Amino acid sequence: MSAAIEFKNITKKFGSRVVLDHLNLTIPRGKITFIVGKSGEGKSVTIKHIMGLLKPDDGRVIVNDQDITDFTHEELRQYRKNFGMLFQQAALFDSLTIGQNVIFPLKEHSKMPLAAMLTRVEESLTQVGLPNMQHRYPTDLSTGEKKRVGLARALVAKPAIILYDEPTTGMDPIVSEMIDELIVKINKDIVDITSVVISHDLKAALATAEYIVFLYQGKVALAGTPNDFKASKDGVVRQFFSGKVDGPMEFF
Ligand SMILES: Nc1ncnc2c1ncn2[C@@H]1O[C@H](COP(=O)(O)OP(=O)(O)OP(=O)(O)O)[C@@H](O)[C@H]1O
Ligand SMILES: [Mg+2]
Repeated sequence: MSAAIEFKNITKKFGSRVVLDHLNLTIPRGKITFIVGKSGEGKSVTIKHIMGLLKPDDGRVIVNDQDITDFTHEELRQYRKNFGMLFQQAALFDSLTIGQNVIFPLKEHSKMPLAAMLTRVEESLTQVGLPNMQHRYPTDLSTGEKKRVGLARALVAKPAIILYDEPTTGMDPIVSEMIDELIVKINKDIVDITSVVISHDLKAALATAEYIVFLYQGKVALAGTPNDFKASKDGVVRQFFSGKVDGPMEFF
């Protein structure tokens, strides 16, 4: 398995609270990996380490064979161009058109001529099933459509890694399924793109993920395929997947 992202012995504390505790994890290249765990287990903190928004107290973060742990500000700025991020709230600018929203990362990061940028924006919107929408405004869109525009914006600069933070939380089941299908489609359409999804939605993880990393008490309790999870006899894993309060899992 070729790794896109590796955490080597990462420890992160906030005050006396140890959030990541000698955490080792591997996210495979070119696949869809779900990072799951109950609230407060460090999923967002993990994503922030991947993007270099937080630095570990100890350990190394390796992304695409580069050790990014000690990157300078400027190195991180360059490095972050490798990422597309779909935020929990679509985070569109309501005063800008859809086209202006999607072109934003290109204007920030690339020196492409404007005509090429506009072509790329339309390609990206078409990829998420929203062609010919550039002149409309976000306020005219449904929640699912806004999410797709957010996804088009995340993809426009052709990232090597796309990060989804709780992409379906708070969405109705049909929109959720559509987003999950889109995650699969994007991962298929774009050769070598690595997709990392933070999610509470275990059904979606089992249906959509190729690899699942389950965080518990600052470590990986289990990492493997959906079938590995279905077959696991581990008490904490079983409890998490059954969604029951009673069991061996500790709540703080
Ligand atoms: N900047 C910070 N300063 C202090 N504590 C923090 C900081 N960021 C995160 N934490 C703490 O680290 C722990 C893990 O937080 P994190 O946001 O990663 O959880 P999560 O798994 O993403 O939870 P959720 O599913 O609710 O989003 C929490 O106890 C949180 O309070
Ligand atoms: Mg979180």
